Amino acid sequence: MPRHSPPVSRFRSTEDALPKPRFAGRTAVVTGAARGIGAATALRLSQDGARVLLVDQLDQVEETANAMGQTGLILDLAEPGASASVLAQLDGMDVGPLDILVNNAGIGGSRLLPDSDDAHLLRLIEVNLRAVISLTRDLSPRLRRPGGRVVNVSSIFGMIGNAGTIGYGVAKAGIAQFSRQLATELGPKGITVNAIAPGVVATEMTQEHLKSSRYRQLQVAPIPLGRISQPHEQAAVIAFLASDEASFVSGAVLPVDGGFLATRHAPFSTE
Ligand SMILES: NC(=O)c1ccc[n+]([C@@H]2O[C@H](COP(=O)([O-])OP(=O)(O)OC[C@H]3O[C@@H](n4cnc5c(N)ncnc54)[C@H](O)[C@@H]3O)[C@@H](O)[C@H]2O)c1
Repeated sequence: MPRHSPPVSRFRSTEDALPKPRFAGRTAVVTGAARGIGAATALRLSQDGARVLLVDQLDQVEETANAMGQTGLILDLAEPGASASVLAQLDGMDVGPLDILVNNAGIGGSRLLPDSDDAHLLRLIEVNLRAVISLTRDLSPRLRRPGGRVVNVSSIFGMIGNAGTIGYGVAKAGIAQFSRQLATELGPKGITVNAIAPGVVATEMTQEHLKSSRYRQLQVAPIPLGRISQPHEQAAVIAFLASDEASFVSGAVLPVDGGFLATRHAPFSTE
């Protein structure tokens, strides 16, 4: 009898030894996924093993989805019947419960109050808030319980006042509060609901603004990290909130803003 037995492998096979992608076997819906933060999120979830339905009003969503080997659905989420179209698409994909819903679709809008006519305000609230609440309401019975995840995309402008984005800011503040409200409703079912509040991200939504030196002075210069964010940096936080790692995070609105909300000053060196 040898004094020391040879070590017994903890793994039965090579397959057991390999870590599984964190979203293997899970299904996700990502809205506004044709480009920008939504496309980066869909890619991240896809690379980590999820089956993803990408929804967007732009035809481009099909190309974006195909490039990931996923499914695209061209749909204006503010139109009546939008939820039914998403549910029908999920039925067609023959997937089980929905594990992850990422409400990312949104439109920008920069106007001061006197210029904010009803059509402007209604469109911002309709797309950025009402459509999100309706889709979540209609998809929530399908969310896995326990274990489902809802991640909403708010904005730093839903958390602080910012001259010139009245309608947008009010809608995004609504998303933050919707996330808290829903966390209390869905928590007992084992579903978490959170939001991210991005700072300035390099997407089509900001590319025109970034040409303005005043915008850069007000919105970019104060960022402690000294730069704007890339979409994949937002996607990484969304994926975290959608993962098992965030099992005890719910009702949170997490700034992903390079420290913008933490400071009143332009960055300066202390060296
Ligand atoms: N870019 C930023 O600096 C920034 C900052 C804070 C928050 N956000 C938020 O992040 C989210 C993503 O924005 P982005 O920066 O990637 O911009 P983006 O314009 O590149 O992407 C938004 C996507 O949403 C889609 N969309 C808009 N309305 C829709 C509708 N009615 N139905 C279906 N799809 C619709 C658009 O077609 C587009 O593909 C938005 O909710 C936005 O408000 C962006």
